[in-house]
Amino acid sequence: MGFSKPDTAEQHRLDEIIRSVNRLRPLPGSPLRILKELDNQSTSASQVADLILLDQALTAYLLKVANSAYLGFSRQCSSVQEAVVRLGFKQVRSLVYSTMASGPLGARLAGYRLGDKGLWFHSVAVASSSHWLAKALNYPDPEKAYVAGLLHDIGKLVLDQFVMADYNQIIEMMYTQKQPMWRVEEQLFGIDHAGVGALAGEHWQFPAELIEAIRYHHNPCMDQPHPQLAAIVNLANALAPSESNEDLFLAGKIIQPITYEILKLNPESTPKLAERLQASLFNYQDRFETP
Ligand SMILES: [Fe+2]
Ligand SMILES: [Fe+2]
Repeated sequence: MGFSKPDTAEQHRLDEIIRSVNRLRPLPGSPLRILKELDNQSTSASQVADLILLDQALTAYLLKVANSAYLGFSRQCSSVQEAVVRLGFKQVRSLVYSTMASGPLGARLAGYRLGDKGLWFHSVAVASSSHWLAKALNYPDPEKAYVAGLLHDIGKLVLDQFVMADYNQIIEMMYTQKQPMWRVEEQLFGIDHAGVGALAGEHWQFPAELIEAIRYHHNPCMDQPHPQLAAIVNLANALAPSESNEDLFLAGKIIQPITYEILKLNPESTPKLAERLQASLFNYQDRFETP
């Protein structure tokens, strides 16, 4: 995975893709400040709340999630500070990423044949599935898995225009070679959407573990520094609900054998796990609404 040896035309296109990544707008300032504050060991809930209050959309979203019936609190919380305490810093972090990502992920992607909010729904489905699977598999930080799931396909935002330009060739290669789309992207562009997503993550200075999970979400490997996170997203991408008429193999929604190994999971237990996951996803319904 990653870069293959390109010829001149391919190299030219790869350069163009990298230029598109470098042209991505910086992340908005106020969510970034909140993320930074959440990393600060000595931060208090009231300091975080003060920053959140500067952002209307985030304030509303946070209160909505904090008051969702699923959390089981009998009393509604009305202050942001109370909501921050109720949710905890890790979940607040997930919600900050969601507010930042909902606009871009909500866009129509003509190349990938994704309608309005198509990528957003897929991303939240994979994020919620990653979170649930992380808890079920005793991964220590389910919220980290949520964010990795949310952002795993972020590279599609950049690659969409290139996929659009070569769409017929991509489809033909997928069917004649029986290869998933990401493999064809790699062949044709020298990089797939996972690699482009990782470059975007570097551009935005995401945490290294998050970049790694984005890079390997279709292809986790044992000797990467944090194989579990990518493996959870690989599993979630395959098990999250999706449009019934798509070919899961060609869409890249398959569980890699190495994923079972990394997660110490018995392949035979997967159908049962998938069933429990499907039954739990209604708990995440608030997350699907755009912040
Ligand atoms: Fe993907
Ligand atoms: Fe995906």
